[in-house]
Amino acid sequence: MTTQCWQTLFSGFNLATMTNSGKCCAEIINGAIAIGKSGIILWIGHIDDLPNFDPEKLQIIEGNGEWITPGLIDCHTHIIYGGNRANEFEMRLKGKSYQEIAESGGGILSTVKATRAATQDELYTSALKRLNTLIKEGVTTVEIKSGYGLDTKNEIKMLKVAEMLNKHSFISIHKTFLGAHTVPEEYQGKANEYIQIVCNEMIPQIAKLKLADMVDVFCENVGFNIEQTEKVFKEARKNNLKIRIHSEQLSNIGATKLASMYGALSSDHIEFIDEDGVLAMAENDMVAVLLPGAYYFLREKKMPPIELLRKNNVPLAIATDSNPGSSPITSILLMLNMACTLFKLTPSEALAGVTCNAAKALGINDKAGQLIEGMYADIAIWDIKQPSELAYQYGVNPLVSLFKKGKRIM
Ligand code: NIG
Ligand code: FE
Repeated sequence: MTTQCWQTLFSGFNLATMTNSGKCCAEIINGAIAIGKSGIILWIGHIDDLPNFDPEKLQIIEGNGEWITPGLIDCHTHIIYGGNRANEFEMRLKGKSYQEIAESGGGILSTVKATRAATQDELYTSALKRLNTLIKEGVTTVEIKSGYGLDTKNEIKMLKVAEMLNKHSFISIHKTFLGAHTVPEEYQGKANEYIQIVCNEMIPQIAKLKLADMVDVFCENVGFNIEQTEKVFKEARKNNLKIRIHSEQLSNIGATKLASMYGALSSDHIEFIDEDGVLAMAENDMVAVLLPGAYYFLREKKMPPIELLRKNNVPLAIATDSNPGSSPITSILLMLNMACTLFKLTPSEALAGVTCNAAKALGINDKAGQLIEGMYADIAIWDIKQPSELAYQYGVNPLVSLFKKGKRIM
């Protein structure tokens, strides 16, 4: 084994490699990781198995029993938006439901107004604050959705902000076009016409400008129906964009099943999914993205069917869903805690949900989410005695430092 290309060596750390799909963290106690110039992991293993190397020729980062996990991945967010919805929070506390607020012109539409009124720079500044909050908790990859522009100009504006964040933030941003989030005001009562604009105008332009990797639809009784969703998926497929879906959050209209027929990477929310939906996910290698922040903030009563998902070996991911309406929560560590306290995941499952399984939900599981030779050296170092502490406690941030593709960013 040649060690000449090694540039950095982490040595004396415990490693949660996340190579066991969440069944356990797959640990190496007293391990080492060597990284090359290109920011790729070149060697990983127990310290006793390290091949001979010249210590003069590389930077050595010496640990003292701290834990290393893969950089965390928040695979479902809406962190770009104008304004906020604190007023609706108060309305809900007084008894109005999320659906009632949406149906009376509030909800997503009020954020659309504020987002359309904001400049690209204003959106960038407010989103960067949220992104930095995630980075401080060990996140090195974030997915961001559009969906508060709802016309071609403003959807493109949002995705350009996501691109700016990708350029300037040191971490990886994956961009998802969510033009089919809700029907904008000017198309009220004309949802089919709006979907035509999404399909004939927005998707082709966004694909041509390479402003999105994925397409998402809010398929729901207060969102788009199955026929409309299918039209969007067809267009996404035509333009080689990967597919995600907001499904079975408030009701079950068969959204996951449809998404599974179009090769969707994941189905997200799924509190109301039934056995058919779970089987469709299992048969089509989809990830279940659980969003405990939205469940908590909307005071949902119906849990996603965790046991059924486990029984069918559906990989479970966890994300913040950070957005102004249903989950104004920008903490991945809180999601780890809530995945356990609210959804009864084990701490190992929760950690897999923000590493290997989150990578799979983004279609990047060959590059990130695990500590394996050949993958990106996205590395979070934690001052903890065991990985389960990341889910167990909340409030004291145990992140020591963070590396993206081998470069220190925190
Ligand atoms: O993931 N479900 C639809 N979209 C978001 C909420 C968006 C909003 O309320 O602004 C979600 O929960
Ligand atoms: Fe969402």
